[in-house]
Amino acid sequence: MLVVLKESAKEVGREAARIVASSLRANPKSVLGLATGSTPLGMYEELIALHKSTGLDFSQATSFNLDEYLGLAPDDPQSFHYFMHSNFFSKVNFAADKIHIPDGAFRKDYSAYCEQYERAIRSAGGIDLQILGIGRNGHIGFNEPNSSLASRTRLKELTQETIEDNKRFFPQGAEIPECAITMGIGTILDARRILILATGKSKAASVAKAIEGPISSSVSASALQLHPDVTFIIDEDAAYGLTQRDYYRRVLELTKKYTPEKLT
Ligand code: F6R
Repeated sequence: MLVVLKESAKEVGREAARIVASSLRANPKSVLGLATGSTPLGMYEELIALHKSTGLDFSQATSFNLDEYLGLAPDDPQSFHYFMHSNFFSKVNFAADKIHIPDGAFRKDYSAYCEQYERAIRSAGGIDLQILGIGRNGHIGFNEPNSSLASRTRLKELTQETIEDNKRFFPQGAEIPECAITMGIGTILDARRILILATGKSKAASVAKAIEGPISSSVSASALQLHPDVTFIIDEDAAYGLTQRDYYRRVLELTKKYTPEKLT
């Protein structure tokens, strides 16, 4: 597990975008796993800037988003569909038929629908690079505490904490969805490479548990310790609870010296 400490949220976005861009240049047909929320916004801004300034090409890439709220149609301004289109897809040259986001308006056989999402990931060849944020309760995707570490894409009940945290994205008084469709922890762990981003003091406790705590379904992100290629990119505030910060800096320096390919 690589821990990359950055001075600011802006630097986190820039570093994540640099890695996404370099994967895409190495393999224009990359399959990207994408996240919503406030944390990856800086990364999307940087990728849009790279698309405009250097012609970074998304036309052959495929994407799978982690999750979507249950009950929200794609054109609902609070949906993750809307978020992805307004903050990213509409500003780069992603092919519409290569974008996949779980359908939150779906109201019938959820498990068949979720199995179909899993199949679509497999038929695209699996996810090459998965981008994640982390919740204050340690969730990745909407895998709330006590999700099975082997879970697959499914309908998941949101915790009150997550509902409260995400209220800020909804108009005052609006009903907040109580469930979501989310990739499972097992689905996420199948990705070839994982980048997890965290910024701000409110994430310090969950970041520390994810990186230095025991692997536990109480902190979904701790399951990432089982994956051989995970990079945490975090700012100073989110790194606050880590006890081994100096060692992580040293690992990064030595990685630059001996195995720089791990950082591209
Ligand atoms: C979003 C997602 C969530 C968020 C997490 C952090 O697609 O799956 O796990 O990454 O809730 O959200 P922010 O970045 O808004 O703090």
